[in-house]
Amino acid sequence: MSTPQIIDGRAVAASVTDEIAARAARLLEETGKRPGLTVVLVGEDPASQVYVRNKERMATKCGFDSKKHVLPESTAEAELLELVSKLNNDPEVHGILVQLPLPKHIDEGKVLNLIKPEKDVDGFHPINVGLLSAGQTDKALVPCTPAGSILLAKKALGTDLSGKHAVVIGRSNIVGKPVAQLLLQENCTVTIAHSRTKDLPKLVATADILIAAVGRPQMIKASWVKPGATVIDVGINRIPAPEKGEGKTRLVGDVDYQEALNTAGAITPVPGGVGPMTIALLMNNTLTAARRQLGLPDEAELL
Ligand code: GUN
Repeated sequence: MSTPQIIDGRAVAASVTDEIAARAARLLEETGKRPGLTVVLVGEDPASQVYVRNKERMATKCGFDSKKHVLPESTAEAELLELVSKLNNDPEVHGILVQLPLPKHIDEGKVLNLIKPEKDVDGFHPINVGLLSAGQTDKALVPCTPAGSILLAKKALGTDLSGKHAVVIGRSNIVGKPVAQLLLQENCTVTIAHSRTKDLPKLVATADILIAAVGRPQMIKASWVKPGATVIDVGINRIPAPEKGEGKTRLVGDVDYQEALNTAGAITPVPGGVGPMTIALLMNNTLTAARRQLGLPDEAELL
């Protein structure tokens, strides 16, 4: 087997954000308006702090009006709901992102459902979920990680994915379900596997496109992967790395990457694969949200 194509998510994400920055500059020139993204972080989860900082930085780099609200862990649900209402009614705020997970005493669904669908740049509101399921992606805001995963698959396979068998492992609302909807929209034959699926190795062996989104380090073995398959690894798992020194850790995906290099036709690394695409697609959603709120047509699709 020849060496696979390593799909460079950092490079694809950089070309996406360059394009978004150019589009935002044009919007500013034509309307005097900047896309406004407001990120809300509740509590002090270190991983969330890193994600939020990266989102804020990228928004600024794209020429957006980037704002952040940091609230203490003890914030009452009512207070968070009030902030979301305020942001819903602020015409300068085109995109609202409430970083997850929220503290346990706050009902996540209640908060996400309050965000105006047209400002829901995460694409988690039931209206956006419904529009995606109905195939009305021209009106929806589509979740960022799934949309980024599709772009990476197209980078490897070209823009026509029709007829391919896509196997999605994982059925979360954030990745598994929406990525399956997007693959269906691309005319793939789609199978969704999960913890109760029988004989996962046999199913994985039939996948032309494998999307791994289970959140279990290196669970998917290379021997399962069909030779030449395109493997998109959404997992970001931190595991101990004693070889780097005591107490050190490293990030790995859901796929046994080193071994899969011998089988896959194309594969995303972790880190440096899907991860950077999530923020790039968030910028795209924010620009789309801003244009729609300003009564302007959508830009051309990316890629
Ligand atoms: N936490 C982990 N991933 C995400 C995401 O895509 N959006 C939000 N809002 N929170 C997250």
